[in-house]
Amino acid sequence: MSKARRNPLEQLSLEQLRRRTSQKWSAHSSDLLPLWVAEMDVPLAPPVADALRNAIDIGDTGYAARRGYAEAVACFASTRWNWSDLPVADTRVLPDVMTGIVEVLRVSTEPGDAVIVTTPVYAPFFSYVSHADRIIVEAPLTSAGRLDIDSIGEAIARVQSSGRRCVVLLCNPHNPTGTVHTRSELESLARVARDAGVRVLSDEIHGPLVLPGATFIPYLTVDNSENAIAFTSASKGWNLAGLKAAIAIAGSDATEDLRSVPAEIDYAPSHLGVMSHSVAFEQGTAWLDDLLAGLDANRTLLGDLIRDHLPHVSWIPPEGTYLAWLDCRRMGVERATDNGTFAVATDIDGPAKLFHDRARVALNSGHIFGLGGEGFVRLNFATSRTVLTTALTRMGAAAATLAY
Ligand SMILES: Cc1ncc(COP(=O)(O)O)c(C=O)c1O
Repeated sequence: MSKARRNPLEQLSLEQLRRRTSQKWSAHSSDLLPLWVAEMDVPLAPPVADALRNAIDIGDTGYAARRGYAEAVACFASTRWNWSDLPVADTRVLPDVMTGIVEVLRVSTEPGDAVIVTTPVYAPFFSYVSHADRIIVEAPLTSAGRLDIDSIGEAIARVQSSGRRCVVLLCNPHNPTGTVHTRSELESLARVARDAGVRVLSDEIHGPLVLPGATFIPYLTVDNSENAIAFTSASKGWNLAGLKAAIAIAGSDATEDLRSVPAEIDYAPSHLGVMSHSVAFEQGTAWLDDLLAGLDANRTLLGDLIRDHLPHVSWIPPEGTYLAWLDCRRMGVERATDNGTFAVATDIDGPAKLFHDRARVALNSGHIFGLGGEGFVRLNFATSRTVLTTALTRMGAAAATLAY
């Protein structure tokens, strides 16, 4: 089969996608091109689709047995990330990454303790943490989108000197910037965290989505990372967010806490979720490689389109994820309101509102990602070249209506 035919991003028509009922395709009216929430415009990987069809055929829709997920991730981690000793016995199967993070926060911290996040960062970190009665402390990334270890160290010191405890909630790879943290950056973080006696929670949901040119480093494989819990899932890599499942993996100093997460969590994952995620990690690597090649090509195309249509927009091409973090500050579009809906994914304002209203393209507004997000938009490029080209052409025409 030719490379183009194998590209999962080129296999569904816009008409087929508009028949979808998931968030991405149902939140906006049908004249908008939705390039916002992290869902991909791809069909399922064939082994995943076959497993699900088979389960439906025999009515295999009972409670999740949870077997096989950790082993599938361990096998993938060993061949893909060179992580040969993933501690399968020290894992818990979860309904999803965010629920897992909250449950681990509850056993690792007390209400009023702090959670340090490196902003701009995945917006639901703010809402889930605050609903769990923990307080967000922001340690912004550098202007190049890298971890600022000094700033994280200072945030830890500030929290501890106020008598509170904290954890660091890392996004590895990083959403929305697509930064893939290097081993040396993660080692520096691990040293700072160890010296301060602080646990790291590493959200690695985008780990399978590292693009050519970068290497994903699982946090638990770096020196001094024993007091950490990592979270991963096939939800992003194989577009299975609607089939709920994820996994937490404890470092050797965090095993007791992960074990102490209440047993009720074991009933929350979906059986079809655990099954499909396990198949994805075990048998979905060829499909994933085709996807990554398509995303790499889209990343190049997006660079060309930005240059041709949006001369006032700049970006640092992402090393991982399918998210582009576009700096629109030179367009000079202010946020119309500060209505307190910060971190709500559908709060579209500033440049995202201009593109929504005048280009009919739905993006995520940068301000919802915390400090450093104002004036940016997040664009999901896991779509076809045609949709991407149409969207950027329309965005260019909308930007051209501004008087510079
Ligand atoms: C960094 C990050 N964490 C967590 C999630 C949500 O994962 P889940 O649905 O498993 O909670 C996403 C979804 O886009 C994400 O980007």
